[in-house]
Amino acid sequence: MAVSPIHGEGEEAHVSEIDVASIRKKFPILDQQVNGKRLVYVDSASSSQKPASVIDAMSRYYETTHANVHRGVYGIAEEATRLYEQARAKVARFIGAPSPDGVVFTKNVTEAINLVAHTWGRANLKAGDAVLLTEMEHHANLVPWLMLKEERGIELRYLPVADDYSLDLTDLDRLVDGVKLVSITAMSNVLGTLTPVERLAEVAHAAGALLLVDGAQYVPHLPTDVQALGADFFGFTGHKMLGPTGIGVLWAREELLESMPAFLGGGEMIRDVRLDGWTPNDIPWKFEAGTPPIAEAIGLGVAVDELNAIGPEAIRAHEVSLTAYALRTLTERFGDGLTIHGPTEPAERGGVVSMQLGDIHAHDVSQVLDQHGVCVRAGHHCAKPLMRRLGLSATARASFYVYNDTDDVDALADALEATRDFFAI
Ligand SMILES: Cc1ncc(COP(=O)(O)O)c(C=O)c1O
Repeated sequence: MAVSPIHGEGEEAHVSEIDVASIRKKFPILDQQVNGKRLVYVDSASSSQKPASVIDAMSRYYETTHANVHRGVYGIAEEATRLYEQARAKVARFIGAPSPDGVVFTKNVTEAINLVAHTWGRANLKAGDAVLLTEMEHHANLVPWLMLKEERGIELRYLPVADDYSLDLTDLDRLVDGVKLVSITAMSNVLGTLTPVERLAEVAHAAGALLLVDGAQYVPHLPTDVQALGADFFGFTGHKMLGPTGIGVLWAREELLESMPAFLGGGEMIRDVRLDGWTPNDIPWKFEAGTPPIAEAIGLGVAVDELNAIGPEAIRAHEVSLTAYALRTLTERFGDGLTIHGPTEPAERGGVVSMQLGDIHAHDVSQVLDQHGVCVRAGHHCAKPLMRRLGLSATARASFYVYNDTDDVDALADALEATRDFFAI
């Protein structure tokens, strides 16, 4: 169903053009009941559901053309290689990369960021060199740098989170001075906050630093152009964008990939191996040691086709509209009884709604919601420093995608009301 226009804050939100009812039919998992209720899946920030086309493409590959890639010279092996490299080209076009050569397939975005820390980081950062992060990072963009801090004494600095849940840039000039890398999320997985990536790219480059962007929550939901954003490194993960698990992407400027040492060693990433040494392969294969996730890459390519068929602009418009509806509905129905941690303006955020229902623990909320067929994530969302900053141990987080509509938001609100009544607050 189409989402109706929302008027608020003196601004008219976009009217959603996407046909959610038709989109939902593409997702077999959504066509089921849980605990006697329609399955309401609002946990896509954790992992999105998969359309039948993605599942079918992966099965078809195994049923008809499975062989290893870049090795065999027989027909099905060449077809497997063609499909794998075609997926890389689709991904490159989807994120505005100048060529597929800058697209490295990884296991997930966590591995993409670790790849940068292990290779570029170890080649370029020594004791005392500084990296600027933010307080709202996922552990995936914290722990690799904390490890490097322990290992070689690099300095970590943090952009703080303001009380309105935006990034506090008051001290940006001082914090960026002398850093070698700025590494930030494009969108917080807890708050939904969109960060000012272009501005941070300018400031980082003016300070002589590179910019790494964690695009895990951005690429699935907003039109993405890695060059326009000014990123030097850009990571994201397939399973949050209708693709399978086990596949992620590191895009980097090609000259950076050329200059970086290899990551894992083994087959595929070499041009030559002798008993006394080895020569690396060309990029991007230099960073893809061993048999890669072939079916997963093919599935990701089809996920990209699905997102293109809906249209990244239409997806963003739908989510702004649906998030506005959710914020308004929850505020009207629960007032002060429900705290939402995140920006209030839908145009400045993504469709992630982190909630605290009175003093009921998020895990209890999530369990009762499950009785009503509503799936939300409860916990610290792998962002413990941010939770500490907010003075919270956990939130219940609803997050929307292309298959959600206002009926799902209403079901969420009804289930929250039942939870409140159950715990009688
Ligand atoms: C902002 C952000 N970065 C990184 C990750 C890690 O993703 P993955 O587990 O697929 O590597 C997530 C997943 O929740 C995320 O939301």
